Order: sequence, then structure tokens, then C-alpha cells
Amino acid sequence: MRIEHSRVRVQVPATSANLGPGFDALGLALDLVDDLELEATTGGVEVLAEGEGAGSVPTGEEHLVVRALRRGLDHAGAPQVGVRLRTRNRIPHGRGLGSSAAATVAGLLLARGLLADPAALDDDAVLQLATAFEGHPDNAAPALLGGAVLSWTEASRGEERARAVNLALHREALRPLVLLPRTTLATHQARGLLPEEVPHGDAAFNASRAALLVHALATDPSLLLTATEDRLHQEQRAPGMPESVELLRVLRQEGHPAVISGAGPSLLVLRGDRAEVAQLVRRVVAETAAWRIAAVPLREDGARCVVD
Ligand code: HSE
Repeated sequence: MRIEHSRVRVQVPATSANLGPGFDALGLALDLVDDLELEATTGGVEVLAEGEGAGSVPTGEEHLVVRALRRGLDHAGAPQVGVRLRTRNRIPHGRGLGSSAAATVAGLLLARGLLADPAALDDDAVLQLATAFEGHPDNAAPALLGGAVLSWTEASRGEERARAVNLALHREALRPLVLLPRTTLATHQARGLLPEEVPHGDAAFNASRAALLVHALATDPSLLLTATEDRLHQEQRAPGMPESVELLRVLRQEGHPAVISGAGPSLLVLRGDRAEVAQLVRRVVAETAAWRIAAVPLREDGARCVVD
């Protein structure tokens, strides 16, 4: 595969995975984006990072965007290139808002943008490669497709393949609020808090709520509170984010369809009034200034690639 272009820009959204009961399966894209610009050069790697994560992410071959770019070029059978990458990141890192999935999807789309034939790295290939990086598709799929997404993996001809579909949305289903603490929690740590096995009753409970959530989102948003109940992962992760889970309990007791966003420690309220939620946060948390509360609309569009 030939490289035909040398400058590519990509915009990729934040995502919130799980949505309560849909552990590793449901997710949605949020209107909070990272902007990336790539110039393919004759050699070397230069990364100029601005915004979230600047100063803490690697700036060479280890940068996640660069690793994903390289993987994408290899997949397409294209030669490797030198990299001058500029990132303007708005997605906070380590907060459960899909920053690493966004970086992975962005790197793969930057690779696509360089190719003479973008079909060599189509959406299905990007989903497979991003899922292999992440271990699960529930952030990568909405980052790629936009909107609310159900993703899963299935065995196909002896290999695991990720699949994803957009969910229908009632026009009043979502008015998302993101509650963002100053603290971070690494996904691998949060996953380490989960038990190996779950009681049959809890699995059945979550299956009913995940199915109900698909219905509530499409048809009847009045069911969102019940439909976002979870018994499989949020309480189990409380030791890693005690304040987030306490806030989750109070918000839900007061009738707000709140969930832990991804592996946490941020929260997502699917339909919420900012002033009301801010009042509850002031009641629960020790240091109100440590939490930011923002209305962040659903983003209908997935990641976008522009070739100059
Ligand atoms: N479903 C994943 C988890 C999302 O909760 O661990 C984190 O990326």
C-alpha cells in the first residue's frame, strides 16, 4: 500500500462506557474532543502535546497515538513514516472518559489518512485493531461511530471479532452531565477490583437492566433510573474511588440516572439538571472544588479524519 498524503488531521470524541448495567458493552460519545495533526516526515518522532496529559505522556515511539499509527500502517501493508504530531487534548486522562481509546482510534485514523486507498484501513479494521489495543470495544466503538453504541465480541472463523451497532435514541433520552473529580484511577486497577465470578442472580439482574436501558434510550426515558441499575461493577470498585461511589449512591437515591463513567472515577448523569446535581455534590463531597460538573452533549458524529 502506497502512502499518498503527508498531512492529516483527526478529531476524536471522549466516550463514556458501561452506562451502568452494560459492562464492557454499552457506551456513548460525548461532545468533548481531542484534535490531532500529523505530518509524515522522512524520519524520527516528534510529539507536541498541548492540553490534557501534556507533560505526562511519552513524546516518542511510546506515545499511544504513534503506536496505533504504526499498527495501522502495518495492517494496511504501508511503509512506516517519520512522525511530527501535534495533539490538542481536551479529554481528561485516567478519569473514565475514554482518553486511551480516543488516542488509539486517532492513531489508526491518522494512518488511514496517509494511505492512497483508505479502504485498506476501514472502520471494521479500525474497530478490530482498537479493540486489540484496549482489550474491550466499549470506548473505541462509540469513539469511532459516535452516538450511543452497543458493542460485543464474537467468535468468527476461529478468531474473536468486535462488532458494534448504533442504538436508536429518543430525542429526550439524554441530557448528559459529566462529574469530573481531580483524582484518577487507572483502568487496570479498577478491573483488578472486580471478582472473578458473580452470583447468577446479579448476572440476571444486569441482563434485564441492560436490555431495559436499550428500550429506555429509544422509547421511554422515564425508565432511565431503573434501567441504569447495576450489580456487577460499580459498588465492587468503591475501594478505588470511594467518593465517586458515595456520590453515585446519593444521586441515584435522589432520582438521578447516574452511573460511573467507564472504569471511573468520573460520573455520568444521563439526564440531569446541572444546578440540582451541583447542590447534591456540595452535600456529599468533602472538597467541592475538587469536582467539576459540566453539561456535555452527546456527540452524534464519531471520529473524523481530514486530509490536507
Ligand atoms: N468497560 C471498561 C471497564 C471500560 O469498566 O473496565 C474502561 O475502559
